[in-house]
Amino acid sequence: MSSGYGSMVIVHSVSIKADAGQVVSIIGPNGAGKSTLLKAVVAELKQDGEVIFKGENVSGLARQTLVRKGLGYVPQINDVFPSLTINENLEMGGYMLKKREMRVRRERVLTRFPQLQRAVNRAASTLSGGERKMLGIGRVLMAEPEVMLLDEPGAGLSPEYARIVREHIVALAQEGCCIVQVEQQAKEALKIAQWAYVMVAGRVRHEGPSQELLENEDIGSMFLGR
Ligand SMILES: Nc1ncnc2c1ncn2[C@@H]1O[C@H](COP(=O)(O)OP(=O)(O)OP(=O)(O)O)[C@@H](O)[C@H]1O
Ligand SMILES: [Mg+2]
Repeated sequence: MSSGYGSMVIVHSVSIKADAGQVVSIIGPNGAGKSTLLKAVVAELKQDGEVIFKGENVSGLARQTLVRKGLGYVPQINDVFPSLTINENLEMGGYMLKKREMRVRRERVLTRFPQLQRAVNRAASTLSGGERKMLGIGRVLMAEPEVMLLDEPGAGLSPEYARIVREHIVALAQEGCCIVQVEQQAKEALKIAQWAYVMVAGRVRHEGPSQELLENEDIGSMFLGR
C-alpha cells in the first residue's frame, strides 16, 4: 500500500499481514505514517495498493461495506458520537442488525465492558477517556468483526485504563479476532503482540516476532527508550 494526502506520498509500498487470533502491532515514531496506513486500508484515503481480506480483494470498498464483511476500524479520535448516549452509539455500530440481534449484541458488549453498563443513557461526551475508548471499541464490536484495526487505543489514557484496554485486546484475539494496532506505547504494544512492524518515514524498517523486536538492541535504543 502506498498512500498520502493530495500529491504528497506519505506511506511508501508498505505490506502488512495479520492472521485470525493474532495481535499485530505497528510501532514507530511520530509522523511515521502509521495512522495514514490504517486510513488507507479502510479507504478513507486514496489507495495505491491492495487490501486482501480473507482472500478477497476489498480495495476501495466503502467503510460500511467493510464493516458488513467483518473489518472494523477504531480511529484514534472521533471514535464515538459524543452527543449520543452509550446505547445510541452502540446502536450506530449495529445499525445493520435486526432489533432482536441488536439487543443480544448490545448485552454482549455491555457484559464485556461493565463500566459502560452503568451509564447506558448518558451522553458519550460525559465518559472518561478510558470509558470512551471502550465505547469506541464496543461500537465496532457490535458488528462482530473478524479483523479490528485500532489506532492508538492506549493514547491519552491513564496507565490503569491503558492496561485494561490491552487486556480487552488480548481477550478479543484469544476469541479469534485479528487485531492490528498502531501504538506509541511501543513496549506495551510489543508485549501483547505476536508479530510487529516498525514503521519509519512511511516505510517498514523492521518486522518480526514481537518478542524478537523487544530483545533487539537497536530497536530498544531507538524506539523503546532503552
Ligand atoms: N490530513 C493531513 N494532511 C496532510 N498531511 C498529513 C495529514 N495527516 C497527516 N499528515 C502528515 O502525514 C505524515 C504521517 O502522519 P501520520 O498521522 O500517519 O503519522 P503517525 O505515524 O500516525 O504519527 P503519530 O504517532 O504522531 O500518530 C506526517 O508528516 C503528517 O504531518
Ligand atoms: Mg497516528
